Amino acid sequence: YQKLNSFPKNFLWGASISAYQAEGGTNEDEKLASIIDKYIHPEGVASFEVASDFYHNYKEDIKLFAELGLKAFRFSIAWTRIMTFDNKKVNEKGIDFYHNIIDECIKYGIEPIVTMYHFDLPYYLEEKGGWLNRQTIDYFLEYAQVLFQEYGGKINYWLTINEQNTMILHPGAIGLPVSGNLPTKKELFQMNHHVLLAQAKVFKIYHELSATGNIGPAINLTAMYQATAAPEDAIAAHNWETLRGWSFLDVAVRGSYNYLFEKYLQDRELYPTIEKNDFKTLAAGKPDFIAINYYSTATIAASKNDGTDESARAGDQQIMLGEEGVYRAAENPYVDKTPYGWVVDASGLRLTLRKLYDRYELPILITENGYGAPDKMDSNGEIHDIERIDYLRKHIRAIQEALTDGVQVLGYLPWSAIDVVSTHQGFNKRYGFIYVDRTDTDLKELARVKKDSFYWYKKVISQNGLDE
Ligand code: BG6
Repeated sequence: YQKLNSFPKNFLWGASISAYQAEGGTNEDEKLASIIDKYIHPEGVASFEVASDFYHNYKEDIKLFAELGLKAFRFSIAWTRIMTFDNKKVNEKGIDFYHNIIDECIKYGIEPIVTMYHFDLPYYLEEKGGWLNRQTIDYFLEYAQVLFQEYGGKINYWLTINEQNTMILHPGAIGLPVSGNLPTKKELFQMNHHVLLAQAKVFKIYHELSATGNIGPAINLTAMYQATAAPEDAIAAHNWETLRGWSFLDVAVRGSYNYLFEKYLQDRELYPTIEKNDFKTLAAGKPDFIAINYYSTATIAASKNDGTDESARAGDQQIMLGEEGVYRAAENPYVDKTPYGWVVDASGLRLTLRKLYDRYELPILITENGYGAPDKMDSNGEIHDIERIDYLRKHIRAIQEALTDGVQVLGYLPWSAIDVVSTHQGFNKRYGFIYVDRTDTDLKELARVKKDSFYWYKKVISQNGLDE
């Protein structure tokens, strides 16, 4: 039995979306194409051209967020709406669009939280080699400078890169490029190095410009369990935890490559080209907090070393393929799963928060967490998403436990504020508090309908974490 502390008064109860999954309007107002706009879509799955039509509906949507009682709203800015790559001119319409979103949030007392980059690299840069090309770092800095200059005075929380670890470890998870070819592992770790440099430089310039705001990375982080008490499973689980999470965060926070990660790269001839001053650059940029996206935990066993590790999957999770000689994904008989096979494990969130805080002692913002399911509207026009409520209730309780343990958690921004296009399953898989009435193939009226979880979360927020 443990007596739980209350949530802090200024706890940021919020919700999240990303630009490409919500906005639509991909060809409007001189927006340039991003790599996402060029992805090949599976037959019958929604593309991103209309998405949730947030581009045209943002005012009404933010009004609904205010009704929900959100204290914070996380969205991403589309690099391709802002920059033109033409004599360093910016796209004023894009600039205004995000001013409008931010101002609309502020009008209702909602803290706008901005992700600078959520998977959507400008296609213009992709054609020049994307993140493999070191010059992309400079382009990112230019973009960041425009963002800080334009919006810096209004934004207290910036997130640099959404899920760098997903982009590097699971490059196909977000979509397939037009060429159909994914980068090689060697290329991926070179890209990783460039993204880390870009991030460190952005941390630095931000701190030189602003004394008040906060900036941090946004990683997909999950705790893991070892499959058995076998010592080799423990080593494999530690391999997994290091390669999947700490390798990215150690560079972002401590400014240096993790020793196991370095060894892993060297042994496999994957070590990136690192220029003379790169380590200085990495060490010079520091985050103020760490943002995490948490959905599930992993269970890890020793590699079988028989060529089958790569295909060993824990359910249908997006993230946990095994790797020969390193680890192998295993099943966990103690946890439930979503209809899409994602492990549901609220205690795993408490554990993830503790481990992250142990390691870096920085405040943590939870920028994603949620329950993806094929919600259905009933004949009364209502959506009874009770499983989502149950999922969120348990995770909120786990955060309260972590806060009581002593972990500093700044806020909770579940995925997603409104239904958006999922990375793979279009509008079949929904996460929102607000239903968007469309299917993958029929846009209908794109009407907004409050789900049961909307009314439930409203109560939770108004009672600072209590739902009864
Ligand atoms: C996170 C991403 O990895 O997971 C989001 O940051 C994504 O963009 C979310 O939508 C849920 O994944 P999915 O595949 O169910 O949409």
